[in-house]
Amino acid sequence: MDSLIVRGGRSLSGTVEVSGAKNAALPLMAATLLAPGQHVLRRVPRLADTHTMVRVLEALGARVRWEGPAMHIDTSTCSSVEAPYELVKTMRASVYVLGPLLARFGRARVSLPGGCAWGPRPVDLHIKGMEALGARVDIDEGYIVASATKPRDSEFGSSLRGTRYTFPISSVGATGNLLMAAVLAKGLTVIENAAIEPEITQLAQYLVAMGAIIEGVGTTRLEVEGVPELSPTEVEVIPDRIEAATYLVAGAITLGDVTVANCRPAHLGASMAALEATGARITIEGMSVHLQSSGRPHAADLTTHVYPGFPTDMQAQMMALASIATGTSTITDTIYHDRFNHAPELTRMGADIRVEANVAIVHGRDRLKGAPVMATDLRASAALVLAGLAADGETRVSRIYHLDRGYERLADKLVMLGADVERRPE
Ligand code: EPZ
Repeated sequence: MDSLIVRGGRSLSGTVEVSGAKNAALPLMAATLLAPGQHVLRRVPRLADTHTMVRVLEALGARVRWEGPAMHIDTSTCSSVEAPYELVKTMRASVYVLGPLLARFGRARVSLPGGCAWGPRPVDLHIKGMEALGARVDIDEGYIVASATKPRDSEFGSSLRGTRYTFPISSVGATGNLLMAAVLAKGLTVIENAAIEPEITQLAQYLVAMGAIIEGVGTTRLEVEGVPELSPTEVEVIPDRIEAATYLVAGAITLGDVTVANCRPAHLGASMAALEATGARITIEGMSVHLQSSGRPHAADLTTHVYPGFPTDMQAQMMALASIATGTSTITDTIYHDRFNHAPELTRMGADIRVEANVAIVHGRDRLKGAPVMATDLRASAALVLAGLAADGETRVSRIYHLDRGYERLADKLVMLGADVERRPE
């Protein structure tokens, strides 16, 4: 297991390129199961998670190969409907194959994801969505075992039936799964309270490009008219808004001047507003966002919400910034009530953080001090690296395989911005 050695105290400056979005690439890769044939996905980030999804697709019989920056996926050779535990336990997003397998083959056997670094992350809404389409779903030996029960209609490939389903809470993954199953279900499906994260909007656009009929793309109400079959096509993954915002925080926390290029500023509204509230100066230049620090950040309260609100995936990174701000910040996570594993590690670097239920009170300190810390989950790890960039001395972040899940070439990109960062095998 590698570590990242971060020597703090340098102001970052320069331009960094954003990679394709992990949370868009994963459902897009699963969606290729819906249309047998050759799909081409461009700008898929090379991450541990996208490699895991490749292995899941290969376990299902698909053939995947990289040709330069493009991923070629041939799903005409699919032969299995089982996503095995040893893969799913390493990446919860593997559950995205449930809807496509059920829609195309009428059955699926997908391992339950198992534990996550923070709290239980249930899949009950994924299952309820499949049942709403007429599938029978059981849990057997740690697996979700689903089968479409309606007789296969001669005209329609799948034996799922259109439905009306209202999500009780907004769920990115469960919306994606239900949408991917509904596009091949006979009849009309109306989904209310659908997630509108840009990654789900891109998934809907890709399905339409494959021949699906979806009204309301980008809104919380999706109307899907099932079609008998879909055709393979190409798509370019949207830029990663969480990676982009993470580098903006790197600029702010080091009192630097950083431009994030090749991003989608329209997807960064809440993150840019949160940074401006701490005193950062932000300008949008085409497909780039330019952040200039105005000196030590000042405290600002923060609450996470579903898109377009402030993203929970940026909560840890902003807590690192708040740790050196002037004043006290209150950070509330309304999406995950226990996503604070980064707090005790930041405290070891001198941060003053008190967590009560899903609220963290952060009293900003003049300086943090480098220390050996341990990564626990993807965004918590990013927060520790960011704190290390601002801290005096050396911070050794261990177990950085967590970072490799969601940040493509993080060390290289930080070094290009002037950081003193070195990856070292443990
Ligand atoms: C997606 O996870 C992202 N992952 C997460 O990013 C992100 O934190 C999350 O959305 C929220 O934005 C991917 O896109 C691969 P949810 P997902 O279903 O789909 C509850 C990262 O760092 N819920 O929108 O799993 C759930 O517990 C990752 O890149 C149920 O109760 O999130 C949470 O409180 C971490 N039952 C809320 O809904 C369910 O069946 C939102 O979760 C599903 C979810």
